[in-house]
Amino acid sequence: MSTITLISGSTMGSAEYVAEHIAEILENHGFSTKVLHGPSLDDLPLEGLWLVVTSTHGAGDLPENLQSFADAIIQQHPDLSRVTFGAVGIGSSEYDTFCGAIRSLEQLLADHKAKRIGDRLEIDIQQYEIPEDPAEEWVKEWAKLL
Ligand SMILES: Cc1cc2nc3c(=O)[nH]c(=O)nc-3n(C[C@H](O)[C@H](O)[C@H](O)COP(=O)(O)O)c2cc1C
Repeated sequence: MSTITLISGSTMGSAEYVAEHIAEILENHGFSTKVLHGPSLDDLPLEGLWLVVTSTHGAGDLPENLQSFADAIIQQHPDLSRVTFGAVGIGSSEYDTFCGAIRSLEQLLADHKAKRIGDRLEIDIQQYEIPEDPAEEWVKEWAKLL
């Protein structure tokens, strides 16, 4: 079975913890995983399965550690037609731009022909004190689609 590459974007660590937790669940279900926090595009295989986990900062913006990844996609136009991906966002519904980062990143990946698997999860920290909880439920269902 091919490796699932988890890509996290985070400022204070919440999304990183969620990505690590999701990876652990996937490993427990027999998948192999690699977790990359704030990778550059060069770190990633341009095929296979990605799982993007990112918080939102600024006004709907990507965390700084994912910005160069997104910029590289815009500048280099990689062909991502052999990439499928899952999408998990973490944000706060206090903001009009709730989970803006995962929505825009998902659009960027789709613009480059990557295909999403399953529904996007958007975790509202106003609703969940422990964001790993909804992520755990979501990934158990998501894994069934693989
Ligand atoms: C300065 C600031 C701006 C934020 N802007 C947004 C936003 O536009 N949309 C959103 O959904 N959440 C926003 N958030 C909430 C964060 O996404 C949320 O606190 C998240 O848990 C942070 O995760 P991280 O530690 O992985 O970065 C903002 C938080 C801060 C501190």
